[in-house]
Amino acid sequence: MFETLTFYHSLFRWLVLASLLYAIYRACKGYYSKGTFAKTDNAVRHWTATIAHIQLVIGMVLYLKSPSVKYFWGNFKEAVKNIDVAFFALIHILLMLVAIVLITIGSSLAKRKPTDMEKFSTMLIWFSIALAIIFIAIPWPFSPLANRPYFR
Ligand code: HEM
Repeated sequence: MFETLTFYHSLFRWLVLASLLYAIYRACKGYYSKGTFAKTDNAVRHWTATIAHIQLVIGMVLYLKSPSVKYFWGNFKEAVKNIDVAFFALIHILLMLVAIVLITIGSSLAKRKPTDMEKFSTMLIWFSIALAIIFIAIPWPFSPLANRPYFR
């Protein structure tokens, strides 16, 4: 169960990143070319937020099943000094929650904005900040915080 969840959570990161990058690209293009916020832009906005929410659900179940998270909360004093363990128990979850809240707010604000320009700029700003946070919170093989492979 834990291995399966880790596999999907790891794989899903690429979908989260690709959807965010594509949404930001479309928002950028639409904004600077003063384009129309088309049905496709709205679908991209919607699916980007949905993909992030699916990753959030997988992450929450993983959090409850993770042996290292269990170890962290059961042995707080020693575990807090271990950056790899503390990363997943505190840093990863906190940063990812903030990022997903930003995506959710950005998506729903963009939906409600009256003009196409405002829809594009809202999506551009909120999704870009979320992407930066997600990038920092992913345990890349080159991250100074915690390291996991690109693919499981
Ligand atoms: C956009 C959101 C997220 C992305 C892109 C993401 C990405 C990742 C990646 C790449 C890993 C390493 C997987 C591996 O071992 O190969 C990981 C591990 C993990 N993630 Fe996330 N994550 C996200 C959100 C969350 C959230 C919201 C939670 C908790 C509620 C969470 C909980 C965990 C846990 C517990 C592990 C490590 C399990 C372990 O090794 O013991 N993640 N995440």
